[in-house]
Amino acid sequence: MNQNQLENLNQGKNQNQGQNGGGKAFKFKPFISFLTVFSFLLLAFSGFILYIRPEGSIARWVGWRAIGLDKSGWETVHIVFCTLFVLAGLIHLVLNFKAIVLYLSLGIDKTRKNLPEMVVAAVLVVLTLLVAVWRVPPASWLMEGRAHYKNHPRALRIQVPAPDFEKQSLRRVAEHFGQSPERVLKELQARGLKGVSLESSLEDVARSNQMTPQELYLLIRAY
Ligand code: HEM
Repeated sequence: MNQNQLENLNQGKNQNQGQNGGGKAFKFKPFISFLTVFSFLLLAFSGFILYIRPEGSIARWVGWRAIGLDKSGWETVHIVFCTLFVLAGLIHLVLNFKAIVLYLSLGIDKTRKNLPEMVVAAVLVVLTLLVAVWRVPPASWLMEGRAHYKNHPRALRIQVPAPDFEKQSLRRVAEHFGQSPERVLKELQARGLKGVSLESSLEDVARSNQMTPQELYLLIRAY
């Protein structure tokens, strides 16, 4: 951006400030800029948590939580802040359209345009896209890391016997071990577990007793 254009932009800003009462009024432009930054920080942080979260069924099986939120809680945070970030980012672009166009077309110094930087950035993005599509390093390393967290949470003591096994009723779980459902029911009641019935799911009974489905499964297996 050349010196005259910068000065014109600043003059415009100063005049606006004068009209707004010397800058004391709440200013929409910096508010939107901060909103964009803060929502991006939460978006990136929740994205990091989603990277290290286990796969859906395993997450429920081991009762996975991070900083008090379960898997679907973090997904909600991520999607809500994604929406806020996109909206705030779009408003930010509109409010600063003139400055952004000038910057992109003329560069920050007045001597030359940004053409070489633009070409290098575009080539880098195309190369990164190819690396991701072909699943070669370092994209494959990132996906291997994700698969590791997805399938091997630290709390996993025994693999989920079948997909969504936590939704099985206690009767099915007892039968799965070849045990009498009525005897399992009596054992669990004798232990003082709350909300136990043969038609309740492993997940519901575990939740009512501050246990994970995995812990309850191992308890039943031990009978
Ligand atoms: C700031 C950087 C971001 C990081 C680090 C990040 C990271 C992640 C990760 C690791 C996942 C889970 C992928 C999986 O299931 O294996 C995810 C899911 C997702 N991301 Fe992001 N993300 C970011 C930005 C965004 C943005 C800008 C948007 C929207 C415009 C977005 C929308 C989504 C959606 C819709 C999902 C699916 C959520 C679900 O599993 O239900 N993310 N993200």
